[in-house]
Amino acid sequence: MNICVIGTGYVGLVTGTVFADLGNEVICIDKVKEKIDSLNKSIMPIYEPGLEEMVKRNVIDKRLFFSTDLQGAVERAEIIFICVGTPPKDNGETDLSFVEETAKGIAKYINGYKIIVNKSTVPVGTGDFVRQVIENNKTDNANFDVVSNPEFLREGSAITDALSPDRIIIGAPTKQVAVKLLELYATIGKPMLITDVYSAEMIKYASNAFLAMKISFINAIADICELTGANITDVTKGVGYDSRIGHAFLNAGLGFGGSCFPKDIQSLVHTAERFSYDFKLLKDVLDINKERVSHFIKIIRDKLVPAEPAPAVVSRGHKQGMGDLQGKVIGILGLSFKPDTDDMRDAKSVEIINILLNEGAVIKAYDPVAIENARKILPDIYYCTSPYEVADGADAIVIITEWREFKLLNMERIKNLMSKPFIFDGRNIYDTERMRKMGFEYYSIGRL
Ligand code: UGA
Repeated sequence: MNICVIGTGYVGLVTGTVFADLGNEVICIDKVKEKIDSLNKSIMPIYEPGLEEMVKRNVIDKRLFFSTDLQGAVERAEIIFICVGTPPKDNGETDLSFVEETAKGIAKYINGYKIIVNKSTVPVGTGDFVRQVIENNKTDNANFDVVSNPEFLREGSAITDALSPDRIIIGAPTKQVAVKLLELYATIGKPMLITDVYSAEMIKYASNAFLAMKISFINAIADICELTGANITDVTKGVGYDSRIGHAFLNAGLGFGGSCFPKDIQSLVHTAERFSYDFKLLKDVLDINKERVSHFIKIIRDKLVPAEPAPAVVSRGHKQGMGDLQGKVIGILGLSFKPDTDDMRDAKSVEIINILLNEGAVIKAYDPVAIENARKILPDIYYCTSPYEVADGADAIVIITEWREFKLLNMERIKNLMSKPFIFDGRNIYDTERMRKMGFEYYSIGRL
């Protein structure tokens, strides 16, 4: 099939590449010329395992093309995928201006029947909006249908997820339109659900919201574990063995970040509000998530700054008696919002490092792939080339992202390099008992 994918962000680039790999002819369009020029030289705009090889292979085989020529791509394509960004507005609502702009572009060049597929994460009703924008702006008398086909891939495992998704959701106005999409996905051989456009749009938000809810739930349980002396690792194991619950997305830690969960949950709360539904549960999910960093910082402060004699008047806040981190050298392991990506969007590292810097700490940091992106956001810290360089002279190490290589470090060497053997593990990657036996002052989440 001839496919046009508009937007070469995470979803667009991976989707287009995977469709090409499945044997289709795909043109990926972006309005940013430098991005297209780089892609044509096989320089990837993102770090994603397996992507570069797959792009190269399909470009060589002449199934995958990158271009800024929207007209040519729209005219050729049978199916057009909209994969542009849908950032949040200040009030949590989804900003659909890129979707609108894209729909207008399609309207301008539509020259015959096309299926237009919304793959961007968009609130319920956006299918209608896209249809209306195209109807109002098209110059040709061409017919078209608008389909919702949400994407569920995760950063860091995007290629595997796209090739082997748990399910494929097709929200189409008619059976005939849905069948065209079924053909496109047939070789993937995964469960497909055909539904209406509204339901497909909602499935995407409900899925992300449910996963975020699992994370906030387990983080709240972790806090109660700390208060009661229970151990979150064992609690999670025990809970997850219930097949109705499962172990996935129950890792307690610093909470969820990234470009999807925070904005999608806010967007769903906003959509609900538009229909006069107060989604209290999701508001709590967001609130619990927001508190993760301050909770973690409190653990760091409490352990790293020796308690001062009790003041005459009980006061709160580090300026009034909790001390600060002036001059402490703190090593950070992990900067990206999660492992296997260089994405720094809504990464907990930014929030945590800025607080530590404000309190006077000196920050040394290492991440396997995100340093280049981090430099743009965090210019005032020292970047290291290895975890061992981070450890050298550090008063404490703070683990923010659970990269696999951090689990395999020579901890004896790390300890010997450090000034003081404090480890604050925001992702619970080490065994508490083992770390303490080795002589570390080890503090993690939901485990005493
Ligand atoms: C998420 C969804 O998992 C994808 O299915 C979806 O397609 C994507 O959003 C999207 O809407 O585009 P992603 O944001 O790439 O994917 O990353 P996740 O692996 O879901 O992690 C999200 C956040 O939750 C990360 O900050 C991660 O550290 C955190 N997390 C995840 C936890 O704190 N605990 C867990 O147990 C799992």
